[in-house]
Amino acid sequence: LALKSIADFPIGVAVPVDPWPNSLLRSKQRQALVEKHFSSLTAENGMKMAYLQPRPGEFEFTHADALVNYAKSHGLVVHGHALVWHTQAAPWMDEYQGPAYRFTEMLDSHVRNVATHFAGKLKSWDVVNEAFTDDSPSDYRPTIWFNNIGPGYIERAFRLAREADPNVELYYNDYNISGAVPAKLDRVLAMLDDFLARGVPIDGLGFQVHIDTESPSLEAIRDAFSRAAKRGIKVRISELDIAVNQSEQYDALSPAVAELQAKRYQQVIQAYLDTVPPKLRGGITVWGLTDGDSWIPGFKQRQDWPLLFDDNFADKPALVGMANGL
Ligand code: XIL
Repeated sequence: LALKSIADFPIGVAVPVDPWPNSLLRSKQRQALVEKHFSSLTAENGMKMAYLQPRPGEFEFTHADALVNYAKSHGLVVHGHALVWHTQAAPWMDEYQGPAYRFTEMLDSHVRNVATHFAGKLKSWDVVNEAFTDDSPSDYRPTIWFNNIGPGYIERAFRLAREADPNVELYYNDYNISGAVPAKLDRVLAMLDDFLARGVPIDGLGFQVHIDTESPSLEAIRDAFSRAAKRGIKVRISELDIAVNQSEQYDALSPAVAELQAKRYQQVIQAYLDTVPPKLRGGITVWGLTDGDSWIPGFKQRQDWPLLFDDNFADKPALVGMANGL
């Protein structure tokens, strides 16, 4: 069983780069799983603003480059994540006190430098991540970028990215848009329709799909994917994980719950294949390799087992579920 051989679109995983302790490049066991199952890599953190530009005008590409080189030598593509985000912006960006136009310069310089550095080496970029709130009616999130530049920062980032790297695919990426908060997807699609109508360069929409075994409903997930695909743009599942311990009732992953999770992986993949025609499939990326690598326990402050491999690097039923869905 090797996921990548079952699909004719990229099957990806998010991995840490150096100097994270569980960095892919420091772990032969993780490399074995990556090389067997995956055809695409995303840096889980290593290509975010804070790490690529830790000090004003000082770019640090060493660790991200090492991942890109590893991917190239093993025949994997790389999805860049993310050129512009409010979380994990560099502290010097968050703390900057100065006129608003300086934030435009900051944004321009970051996007230009980073997209130029990686030009020709990546399959795709998340150009802007999480620009909308979850509130109803959902609106632009008040980030340092929005507050200082206005909503035009999004379009600006897409245009700059295209200028720097004419062939890379450009995505907008967000969470809770695969059924959880329909009003948020409405806003994202309205922005997309506007971009497409005005010729702002955008190639696709990334659905993070951080979900659990109960919600959203499969019907809501299918509806969300199909609404995006109807635009004729590419659709990615960009950060898939399926939590099982949302009610915190478990101390360990039982075989029954592991099977329930496997079924849910299968259904989500099937929903993607049923609603997104082959030429629009940008691929599916799971957000981490092993359960121990997952960000969910830290973020949700609870135990959980959301991924395809256990802490001993063994296949979980979820892996079989995903394969069955493909
Ligand atoms: C997460 C990483 O997995 C964590 O290691 C980090 O501490 C915080 O960010 N949405 C995104 C990802 O777009 O970048 C986030 O990744 C998870 C939520």
